[in-house]
Amino acid sequence: MKTINCSDTKLFFVGHDTVELANKYGTPLYVLSEDIIRQRCRELKTNFLHKYKNTKAAYASKAFLTMTMCKIIESEGLLLDVVSGGELYTAMKAEFPMDRVMFHGNNKSYEELEMAIDKNVGRIVVDSIDEIHILEEIANIKQKKVKILIRVSPGVEGKTHKYISTGQKDSKFGIPLVKGIIDEAVWRAIKSNNIRLMGFHFHLGSNLYDKNVYSLAVEILINLIKWIYDEFGFVTKELNTGGGFGIYYNETDDVKELAYYTDAIMTKVSSYCNKLGIDIPTIIIEPGRWIVGEAGITLYRVGTVKDIPNVRTYVSVDGGLPDNPRPALYNAKYEAIVANKCNLKPSKLVTIAGKCCETGDILIWDLMVPNIERGDILAVLSTGAYNYSMSSNYNKLPRPAIVLLSKDKEHVIVRRETYDDLVSKESIPEGL
Ligand code: LLP
Repeated sequence: MKTINCSDTKLFFVGHDTVELANKYGTPLYVLSEDIIRQRCRELKTNFLHKYKNTKAAYASKAFLTMTMCKIIESEGLLLDVVSGGELYTAMKAEFPMDRVMFHGNNKSYEELEMAIDKNVGRIVVDSIDEIHILEEIANIKQKKVKILIRVSPGVEGKTHKYISTGQKDSKFGIPLVKGIIDEAVWRAIKSNNIRLMGFHFHLGSNLYDKNVYSLAVEILINLIKWIYDEFGFVTKELNTGGGFGIYYNETDDVKELAYYTDAIMTKVSSYCNKLGIDIPTIIIEPGRWIVGEAGITLYRVGTVKDIPNVRTYVSVDGGLPDNPRPALYNAKYEAIVANKCNLKPSKLVTIAGKCCETGDILIWDLMVPNIERGDILAVLSTGAYNYSMSSNYNKLPRPAIVLLSKDKEHVIVRRETYDDLVSKESIPEGL
């Protein structure tokens, strides 16, 4: 799907004039395309869910979550991965079917687990042995049966920024695949009256472009499944292979189709299960970024343009680190276009700075632009994932609004924060 085009002087995103959007709703502005999200979901169905039997897909909502997003995901028939009471609450408020929710997290609180059990979430993905004990206790008190997956740490390192690599041995996520630990976890789960172990989960990391790490981890997991069967006679029904599929941020990214990853996973699952003589479990994937990342752009207005001769030109925009911490956190590289001058040839190298009191608040270090000046609109691309969901109020900047574009319609699905919002949760002790 061609998502951006330049008509006359203006940049259009899925057929909508971005300059008009910026003028109408103000900046910074998150803009999200429902059509792109749905197109990704359809691709997921064609190339995975319908192509392979006994498969399921969850949307990892940490990438981007609002009640509207829950509605879209529900209507596309996907499951929803949540990772906190807050994400679960958002899904509840959107009336997302709770039996299609998977609850993740390396340190779920007692209250979060109670909430998940009360609401009958579909799966709780257990991350430690003590979580199994706590679940057993809560489920026993509430006289409920809880379906779980055990998350393991397969010891496979994905090639990505080290802050978003999770599958390696030294990770806070998952139960280590060490004899005496993983078998203890499995044994605890299968002998519990209130817990129903459905299978295993791994997640290697985020924004991965190489299928081989998935194949390797699948092999390790199928070996585990076989060993657990031999030890306990336990038949694994489900294997969740996580998310992490990389998307397009800039031309250095080696972007692949979804099938590149899922075919590798499914080929390995079937060949290895055949080899070891075990039943093929239901395979679940849970992409977040891949579904929503390229569906979003952020519009900023240019303010100060500062030229330091023989050093660089800083072009400051009216957002930055609080609406997109990814460049500062992960050295993430974005592409951007001057939306009201998209017809002009980029001729000058500049640095796009945010407006925070923080030297590291740089959105893009090197960007070629046409003559850029105060008042121009800058569109930063591929900001749909982990921008809004990781946003903050640093420097007391109100969070931007989110406009959802659906065919030829637009809708503000999250309104812009106000200065009153910024102080609304505060109180001053008496006498001060
Ligand atoms: N499943 C689990 C258990 C996860 O922890 C994650 C992401 C996903 C699925 C989805 O991964 P995705 O398909 O979106 O790559 N804030 C970072 C990304 C952190 C990802 C955390 N877990 C960033 O902005 O790059």
